[in-house]
Amino acid sequence: MQYADLLIHSAHMMATMKGLSESPARGEGMSQIGLLEDGAVAIREGKIVAVGTTTEVLAGGWVGPETKQISAKGRVVTPGFVDPHTHVLYAGSRENELSLKLKGVPYLEILKQGGGIHSTVRSTKQATDEEIKAQTSRRLQTMLSLGTTTAEVKSGYGLTIEEEMRSLRLIRELGSEQVMDLVPTFMGAHAVPPSYSEEEFTNYVIEDMLPKIAAQGIAEFCDVFCEPGVFSVDSSERILVKAKQLKFKLKIHADELTKAAGGAELAAKLGVISADHLLQASDEGISALAKQGVIAVLLPATSFNLAKNSYARARTMINAGVPVALATDSNPGSSPTESMPLVLTLACLYLRLTPEEALTAATINAAHAIGRANQVGSLEVGKQGDVLILDIPNLNYLPYHFGSNPVDTVIKRGKVAIRGINVPN
Ligand code: NIG
Ligand code: FE
Repeated sequence: MQYADLLIHSAHMMATMKGLSESPARGEGMSQIGLLEDGAVAIREGKIVAVGTTTEVLAGGWVGPETKQISAKGRVVTPGFVDPHTHVLYAGSRENELSLKLKGVPYLEILKQGGGIHSTVRSTKQATDEEIKAQTSRRLQTMLSLGTTTAEVKSGYGLTIEEEMRSLRLIRELGSEQVMDLVPTFMGAHAVPPSYSEEEFTNYVIEDMLPKIAAQGIAEFCDVFCEPGVFSVDSSERILVKAKQLKFKLKIHADELTKAAGGAELAAKLGVISADHLLQASDEGISALAKQGVIAVLLPATSFNLAKNSYARARTMINAGVPVALATDSNPGSSPTESMPLVLTLACLYLRLTPEEALTAATINAAHAIGRANQVGSLEVGKQGDVLILDIPNLNYLPYHFGSNPVDTVIKRGKVAIRGINVPN
């Protein structure tokens, strides 16, 4: 008999997110979290080998003398959070822009004046590889301590071929050195550098950047900031069509700031994997996303931090049948946070998701949004042993109590990555 390396048992509530790995959950399906009482999960060589009630898993004979056992008595156990939209690789910070924001200067105006993304492009360019990695590692460690076990990371603070390649190389290095799994996205079309017109830079992305990045095989997805004044729907389409030809999977920042600008419609037309932000998406755009099965990655921490009381119409999306995922959008401008628990709170309060829907959106649907649903996002036999023990008495408590860390223990590939101080054994 081959014994498990690790057994987590006696969980008061265990959300398995079972049966959602084939396709993302939609509509009512987003409430089906595969809940078990007195749940247990056994992991061997990094993969889940048994899931069920504690009695069932023990009866399966997985526990031997070498099996490490952790009691989750009185606690909630979930899959590790998946954060499917981050810009976490950069150097520097932008707290100097807070006073501008408080005076009411719009995000796009700060960008136009050479601040915003351009400011982070400058500080990242000036930093050494080691400095960027050290600053990013700290953020990744914070993410992990807050329960994120897999994250997408975008380039986009380079905006030259050399700097974009450097960012993607550093993402790859951090991915192999850190505990978390990182999924790399090329986002050369993040802003138009001041020395280019939009058309010139779009051509540069299409003719120079994309073929070189594709040849290096260092990015899985291609993403574009589709927004009037940044990359128009036409420019975004040209970039994404070329990326598709080069076998990138596609994402798009769509309809964030400008009402019904056509980003969601473009996302559906191109059949991207995810369309992200979507605060201003039109009714037609939402229907088109549902029809094509495009995942809406919603970023309520960005809405919160932009402080305009404007949030994506998540209920309309869920009712229309759009699969919804949640992410931090972690970046130095519009969302300086690493916290998926905060995102879950904001998702419940302002996107009006139920705690069950929010958990689905932050785990299995998020895994679908980055092409990892066959490996992570649920507690099922064969999946990676990425598990959270939350120091909360029930699921409602997760969004309810905010601003502190509910995560007690983080298990990544069957290994204890973070061990909380409150666990009794
Ligand atoms: O998703 N919208 C564009 N990109 C990021 C912000 C990046 C930044 O401000 O540095 C976002 O919000
Ligand atoms: Fe973003």
